[in-house]
Amino acid sequence: LLSPELARAEHLIREIPGYPQPGILFRDITPLLADGQAFGATVAALIEPFAGEFDVIAGVEARGFLLASAAAIAAGTGVVPVRKAGKLPQPAAAIDYALEYGTATIEMHADLEAGTRVLLIDDVLATGGTVAAALELLERLGYPVCGTAVLFEIDGLGGRERIGHHPLHTVFGS
Ligand code: PRP
Repeated sequence: LLSPELARAEHLIREIPGYPQPGILFRDITPLLADGQAFGATVAALIEPFAGEFDVIAGVEARGFLLASAAAIAAGTGVVPVRKAGKLPQPAAAIDYALEYGTATIEMHADLEAGTRVLLIDDVLATGGTVAAALELLERLGYPVCGTAVLFEIDGLGGRERIGHHPLHTVFGS
């Protein structure tokens, strides 16, 4: 059950039918982010289950950056970006992954010490392709991942199955 604070935060997620395509109900988190109390409570809830288990937070471009940066400050850690292809000057590794239509690539720098424990944060888990690719990238670079935290997952797309044994925490229901 959500605390009153988090229940209020969840109500600030705006549902937009038909975006970006007909038949899709888009959940827009920008009103939640714009509310200081809701944003703070949400960020605290993202990291809470993983307290003491990570040394740094990795955030996925672009909406994941907003959450990961705030979470890093709340946790007292640094933040590292998992970026879309072509944005980083010295990518140490890249992974291609399948989208619903076509493919995408994400990249990271490798400036952390080997063995640095990472918490991965994104806004939403849909097919799980993005998070699965980010987990593979982090592990390939030698960074153990304690888990993944997202605001919510979209049911019926197989996201949870795709990330397998990796712990997944969602703040809000589907
Ligand atoms: C969205 C979302 C996740 C990803 C989830 O990112 O922010 O990163 O898709 O989908 P998946 O589980 O099917 O991989 P998007 O590419 O729309 O980028 P944005 O954050 O830059 O808007």
